[in-house]
Amino acid sequence: STYNMEDIVNVCKRRGFVFQSSEIYNGFNGFYDYGPLGVELKNNIKQRWWRDMVHSRDDMVGLDSSIIASPRVWEASGHVAGFVDPMVDCRVSKLRYRADQLFFTKVELQEDGEVIGYIALLDSGDLHGEARKLAEKLKKRTGKEGTIKFPLDIKDMTKATVAELALIPSPATGEPGSLTPPRAFNLMFQTSVGALADASSTAFLRPETAQGIFTNFKNVQSTGRVKVPFGIAQIGKAFRNEITPRNFIFRSREFEQMEIEYFIPPEEEVWPDFYNKWIETAWQWLTSIGMREDLMGREVHLKGDLAHYAKACTDIVFRFPFGQVELQGIAARGDYDLTQHQTSSGKSMEYFDESNKRRYVPHVIEPSIGVDRLFLALICSAYAEDEIEGEKRVVLKFHPSMAPIKVGVFPLVKNKPEIMEKARAIYDQLKHRYNVFWDVSGAIGRRYRRMDEAGTPFCITVDFDTLEDDSVTVRERDSTRQTRMKVGDLLAFFDKEING
Ligand code: GAP
Repeated sequence: STYNMEDIVNVCKRRGFVFQSSEIYNGFNGFYDYGPLGVELKNNIKQRWWRDMVHSRDDMVGLDSSIIASPRVWEASGHVAGFVDPMVDCRVSKLRYRADQLFFTKVELQEDGEVIGYIALLDSGDLHGEARKLAEKLKKRTGKEGTIKFPLDIKDMTKATVAELALIPSPATGEPGSLTPPRAFNLMFQTSVGALADASSTAFLRPETAQGIFTNFKNVQSTGRVKVPFGIAQIGKAFRNEITPRNFIFRSREFEQMEIEYFIPPEEEVWPDFYNKWIETAWQWLTSIGMREDLMGREVHLKGDLAHYAKACTDIVFRFPFGQVELQGIAARGDYDLTQHQTSSGKSMEYFDESNKRRYVPHVIEPSIGVDRLFLALICSAYAEDEIEGEKRVVLKFHPSMAPIKVGVFPLVKNKPEIMEKARAIYDQLKHRYNVFWDVSGAIGRRYRRMDEAGTPFCITVDFDTLEDDSVTVRERDSTRQTRMKVGDLLAFFDKEING
């Protein structure tokens, strides 16, 4: 089925997955709150990742480092000087844009079939409305009434260079150039630590969790009895003052990352194997939690696009309704970060290899993925609309292990105490193991539909026959198939289906 971002945003809001932050105060751009179903999905993602990346591997350990660290960390890592995006200001709209992400539509203004000017519209949601407003401004200023002519196709939307845009006359002034020249804008949020708010107290909220891993490399290595090759995993919040947060939770200003730094020996011939293995592991893991493989792809970064220290980088991309974009990056970063911290702190970051009595600064492979971005990709993978008995249904076909609610428990009728009691007993038994949902209101069909939209893979109905044969109806979300099952078999069945 086809769907757009509005469908996704709507189901997230309607079912309590994601809300805009500070909504009662008209929102706060780039920040989001996760509701009852959202927090379950997010926890499922993180717990499963931790289980598969840390617990089930002998070569991985975990870490939880602080969000605010010494500013010297961010100087050494290069973030203070270099974690910037090029930003331009639009003098007409007073809005700021990332210069490298400008998409604009060039709109022709015509008078009696003759072109009298152009309007550049920046990536606006309402191109027609914007164009009309600008045309009116132009009319006021010049007395000329233009006909607005749009390019016919979305494909005509061009990725503009600032230089190109600068040539287009601003409808407000008639002068060329409604955008300021690009300037570097640092994406790190600043705060001040301690009572005095002066330059010496300035600190940053971490823009990635990775640096906490590097600064703790020696601590973990010397206390964890781990030997290279090994990895340190961390899940935690990261903050970036994105110039144009967009596409719902895809690019926000506060988000969570799941990052691994995998430390390997420094020889040149060593890294490609580990790098390729991590790309494969990352891909397999994503498909194992129900990501639609037909929407996934790989993009290898060209040499010219890599940071100077990076050896290689591959993105696992996902086709969201707004385009195919990065979901996860797997980078071979060499020994850049550890060496930077070694130089900057004066503390050795060397590893002593017992087996051949050798000292070296390890190199790293870094798989990094955003929890919120994966959350969105999972919802997009799961979203479907179909028809059940002539009625339209929105269903989230989550992998059972990801589903926020695993089982809905319904007594067929609420005015029969034996049925209520039996259903309640089943519910009470299941709730210690899973997030389960109790629902007594409305016709059974409606209760199923509510659970379909929440992505609940199974529903149990306790009916009159249950009192005779100690069996219940188990209804499966995707096929809507219903089977009778002994109450005593339920736990084993769900364990198999959910935990695989
Ligand atoms: N330590 C490497 C690093 O941070 P990155 O490509 O900047 O690399 C890694 O970020 C991942 O974090 C991305 O692939 C994406 O999933 C997520 N991410 C980055 N910026 C984000 C944002 N503004 N909102 C949501 N997720 C973001």
